[in-house]
Amino acid sequence: MAEPLPLVVANLKANKTWEEMTTWLEAISQASSTFPGTVVVCPSTPFLAASNQWLITHNSSLKLGSQDISHFEQGAYTGEVAASQIASLVDYAIVGHSERRQNASETDEVLETKVKNAKTAGIEPIFCVQSDSTPIPDQVAIVAYEPVSAIGTGNPDDPQNIKSTAEKLKTKSQYTVLYGGSVSADNAKAIIATVDGFLVATNSLDPQKFTAILEAIK
Ligand code: PGA
Repeated sequence: MAEPLPLVVANLKANKTWEEMTTWLEAISQASSTFPGTVVVCPSTPFLAASNQWLITHNSSLKLGSQDISHFEQGAYTGEVAASQIASLVDYAIVGHSERRQNASETDEVLETKVKNAKTAGIEPIFCVQSDSTPIPDQVAIVAYEPVSAIGTGNPDDPQNIKSTAEKLKTKSQYTVLYGGSVSADNAKAIIATVDGFLVATNSLDPQKFTAILEAIK
């Protein structure tokens, strides 16, 4: 999938009711219509079908992604959501976010299976790494560099460090490299010079703050 860059992904995590989602989709669809790159929203799993329908009905340029997918394919796996079940809804799936590695004990082996399942279903994984030495499964095309110390802290990684990490990652393969961790409208312009896009959580929740990030890197 060769998406126009910059690629900016909003990871809404476990936030928002459906009513709040529609307000968000309205505002960001408008912002994304004049953005030269690609904007992706990753809402909570229960909102994927309704978000997909909303984007089609409103002829929106906004793309949809999931925050995770199961390492199981369809079957007797209570509570799991298989890649093939959401393949008609989403273009992307975040895989290997540090919160899932920590809270759901996701191992490198499990993440490799998730990437395989996503690819088989035609979903592009956005694979999160915490440093340039995090193992990256074959088939990954989009990597998000997200140092844990920068996530939700208001302290983004140093642009020089982001630059050298992105360069190191790109020597391994021709990855599209995103940066995530305390991205804001104030630091977006300096950081985008070093990467192909962002993965944004905290400052994606408020449509005004997220729009300001998009405006800053136009
Ligand atoms: P943050 O998180 O934007 O809140 O720092 C980024 C992420 O967890 O993807």
